Amino acid sequence: MYDQAINYLKSAGITSPEIGIVLGTGLGKMVNELDLIHVLDYGQIPNFPVATVEFHHGKLLYGELFGKKILAMQGRFHYYEGYSLQQVTFPIRIMKLLGINYLLLSNAAGALNLNYKKGSLMLIEDHINFLPDNPLRGLNDDKMGPRFPDMHQPYSSFLNERLLAIALREKIVLHKGVYVAVPGPNFETRAEYRLFRNYADAVGMSTVPEVIVANHMGLPCAAVSVLTDECDPDNLSPASIDDILETAGKAEEGLVKLFCSLIREL
Ligand code: HPA
Repeated sequence: MYDQAINYLKSAGITSPEIGIVLGTGLGKMVNELDLIHVLDYGQIPNFPVATVEFHHGKLLYGELFGKKILAMQGRFHYYEGYSLQQVTFPIRIMKLLGINYLLLSNAAGALNLNYKKGSLMLIEDHINFLPDNPLRGLNDDKMGPRFPDMHQPYSSFLNERLLAIALREKIVLHKGVYVAVPGPNFETRAEYRLFRNYADAVGMSTVPEVIVANHMGLPCAAVSVLTDECDPDNLSPASIDDILETAGKAEEGLVKLFCSLIREL
């Protein structure tokens, strides 16, 4: 399955990507920064899952930024859409097998830490996998990575130090924290927010499976959450996907600046 996808992508001209990017919900504008070389619909690529949610564009973009070849996923696959975690992470394996050296991820997340305001950004320093599955479950392919991967530093300190320095320089608010991944698709109850805030600063429905697979393959990664709502169990307004998308759109500029500056430095 991997070979079919890779052969297809290579023959389509995606030959030497250096940096992979996953753009989360409402966070597609980064692609405007790329000098595009090729744009492929996920549906064209053999064995790629097909995005189901209408606001996920579902495109793989190959382009150049500051002289580096970038492979960007506009739209990702989520567990709540019904995919297995092996399907969710298939594109990450493909990007690594095509040669990327770094993986940058973004997502929209709810702020559990009430000092972190809606519309700000959070660098993920660590995570909790609260999904009822793991992408590495099942037979291990030793060519991909070890049976029992170490996770003591799942997010690259090399990349994180650079992102924090860029945020300081560019005057972008970049909090640091722990992200907990939940299956969704419902937003959390007050009781769940109360539980999670003891252990995490942000909650969302993605990213952790991709980071597990990146670590399995020895691929350094960094992830930034756009905090789209404040999850205060004692003062909770109804969660709205429209509000979340609107907030993501407004906060996107900072995220784009962070990722572009980082890519220039890599
Ligand atoms: N919970 C889970 N996922 C989310 C949230 C949330 O509050 N906000 C944005 N994505």
